[in-house]
Amino acid sequence: MHSFKAYLIDKGGDKDGGATRAGWAQLSEDRLDPGSVTIRVAYSSVNYKDALAATGKGAIIRRFPCIGGIDLAGTVVRSDDPRFRDGDAVIATSYDIGVAHHGGYAEFARVPGDWVVPLPAGLSLFESMALGTAGYTAALGVVRMEENGLRPANGRVIVSGATGGVGSLAIDMLAGLGYAVVALTGKEDQREYLQGLGAAEVMLRSSIDITKIRPLDKALWAGAVDNLGGDVLAWMASTMQQNGTIASVGLAASHKLNTTVMPFILRGVSLLGVDSGYTAMPLRQRVWSRLAGDLKPRHLAGTTRTIAFDDLPGVFDEFIAGRAHGRVVVAIRP
Ligand SMILES: NC(=O)c1ccc[n+]([C@@H]2O[C@H](COP(=O)([O-])OP(=O)(O)OC[C@H]3O[C@@H](n4cnc5c(N)ncnc54)[C@H](OP(=O)(O)O)[C@@H]3O)[C@@H](O)[C@H]2O)c1
Repeated sequence: MHSFKAYLIDKGGDKDGGATRAGWAQLSEDRLDPGSVTIRVAYSSVNYKDALAATGKGAIIRRFPCIGGIDLAGTVVRSDDPRFRDGDAVIATSYDIGVAHHGGYAEFARVPGDWVVPLPAGLSLFESMALGTAGYTAALGVVRMEENGLRPANGRVIVSGATGGVGSLAIDMLAGLGYAVVALTGKEDQREYLQGLGAAEVMLRSSIDITKIRPLDKALWAGAVDNLGGDVLAWMASTMQQNGTIASVGLAASHKLNTTVMPFILRGVSLLGVDSGYTAMPLRQRVWSRLAGDLKPRHLAGTTRTIAFDDLPGVFDEFIAGRAHGRVVVAIRP
């Protein structure tokens, strides 16, 4: 490896107020971070968090400069870890990747072996990044809810931020498992897309009167996957059925939650936190193998758009503006 192309996120000096600056760089191998596994990156992806990091709209990067991209998949080119050999197809997401350790927006990455998941049989490298952190997180939410007793027979499951990456994949997975899924979206024109993923009903966010959220309201949902936080999560909590279960995944609308204890103590509702970043490896591998099996979304190709590495800087704004639609795979060195 002589040098490699990377999308580097840095911070300006005091003169420009320490603003985030992101752009292309040609780096030498010695700029890779420490780690036992060196990977030739085939694909990465774009998540909401990547957009926050690259634009500086969120305080995501904990070490500057940092190559962006919280997801990567590719082929091992060197390994000092006995669990991996040259030529192995692998996935690396989560932990410090793209946040405090150089990430997937580069032709090469070097990471600790403990962060690497062998590509499960049944998934291609491309599919693993069509899923990426969004798909992994949606699946982790489903697994956590099922462990908490959610079953298709319990009733309907609502998914907010429905047209986004996590939302689209959660709908596809839940519908594939036989759940009656209600897609909650802000995008009126995306009804067909959401029904195509398997949503039994599409509900517009504007139909919820957030000025009238009561401690307990009509019980509607057996399960809920929430990508928004704030008022929508408060409303979900108040409308859960007895023993309902909510997977709290995201904060695309707000990190705040103003609710009461009533749903929890009078309806036995569970609010489950979903953290994709630091799942223990045995569970992580179990979730990835389910993603290659019964949780594999049936409409992955229709949910995913592929962009060239060179086009990466142009996609972040649509995520920040909430216009993102499904998943974006970045073809680094396919
Ligand atoms: N817990 C974890 O480990 C974990 C892992 C991955 C992602 N996340 C979080 O999960 C959320 C979704 O991630 P993603 O990658 O799916 O993001 P995304 O692709 O950008 O989708 C987010 C969706 O939320 C809705 N939305 C966006 N901004 C909004 C706003 N201001 N108010 C109301 N709705 C808004 C939009 O869907 P509609 O128009 O259809 O409503 C949008 O498509 C993010 O907050 C992300 O940080 C958490």
